[in-house]
Amino acid sequence: MESDFTLGTGGKMPIVGLGTWKASPGEVTEAVKAAILAGYRHIDGAHVYENEKEVGDGIRVMIDQGVVKREDLFVVSKLWCTYHERHLVRGACERTLSDLRLDYLDLYLMHFPMGFKPGENLFPFDAEGQVIPDDSNFLDTWEEMEKLVDDGLVKAIGISNFNREQIEAILNKPGLKHKPVNNQIECHPFLTQEKLINFCQSKGISVTAYSPLGSPERQWANAQEPCPLQDPQIRAIAEKHMKTNAQVLIRFHIERNVAVVPKSANPKRIEENFKVFDFKLSKEDMNTLLNLNRNWRGFPMKWAVNHKDFPLHAEY
Ligand code: A2P
Repeated sequence: MESDFTLGTGGKMPIVGLGTWKASPGEVTEAVKAAILAGYRHIDGAHVYENEKEVGDGIRVMIDQGVVKREDLFVVSKLWCTYHERHLVRGACERTLSDLRLDYLDLYLMHFPMGFKPGENLFPFDAEGQVIPDDSNFLDTWEEMEKLVDDGLVKAIGISNFNREQIEAILNKPGLKHKPVNNQIECHPFLTQEKLINFCQSKGISVTAYSPLGSPERQWANAQEPCPLQDPQIRAIAEKHMKTNAQVLIRFHIERNVAVVPKSANPKRIEENFKVFDFKLSKEDMNTLLNLNRNWRGFPMKWAVNHKDFPLHAEY
């Protein structure tokens, strides 16, 4: 079925998920409930979003009301960078499971290839505003994540914000036990990621697109930057299909067999964002969208450019 794809582990991953970054703790429980009622079965979260307890409350209500069973859902979370040191990985995953009140995750991603200084502060910065690294190496962190699969805490593991060389380092790691099944990266028509997506898919690694609508809520946005939700060429395609820009921006990924996690905390928009299985973009529409690429990033991560594992110096 077009609304799912099969992961390297053989499990199914629903192609559209609810993004929860920037959904405040006060609104995310209702957002998760609205999404599940609208048909979403994939919820994308992370420890660093600081709302996992409330995401878990929404999931729990839907299970208790019999709307879904746990096994119908595909719940994703991410290991935060301050927990990359070997002895911290398992506890971080257990904390997420206890916040969500779940006994397993469907997918656990290493949020970034970069480890940060451990401690209470999720973003430990130095006086220059650059992140303070830890002593970890993402290959060691990966080995600890592999144990989470073996011990049944998570069904599958993956990565996020990794570049090609970093992915190859994992794939070529001596004694690799579990391959990453997914790489979650920023992707939309202004950052089409063709090379990285082709590379991942050629290695059997599925891709998830974050920021599919251009994340207009990011605090560092400025008025000069492109805004896919307002773009006139995207609007022309949307009007032709009697759809909205958001629906075209979501469908763009489905056409490429890329999972997509639009965030909304508004029940109407949550429903709108799931009405993407009743139309198709033509080859011409896709070419128009792909030609909008300008390698523009909403998440340039300028605060980590000096980190040894900063992923964005490479071409892809
Ligand atoms: P809201 O939560 O109020 O709906 P991204 O997924 O790229 O990070 O984008 C999320 C942003 O896009 C949020 O600000 C969200 O606001 C907004 N958004 C989500 N769905 C839609 C939609 N269908 N139309 C317009 N804006 C949307």
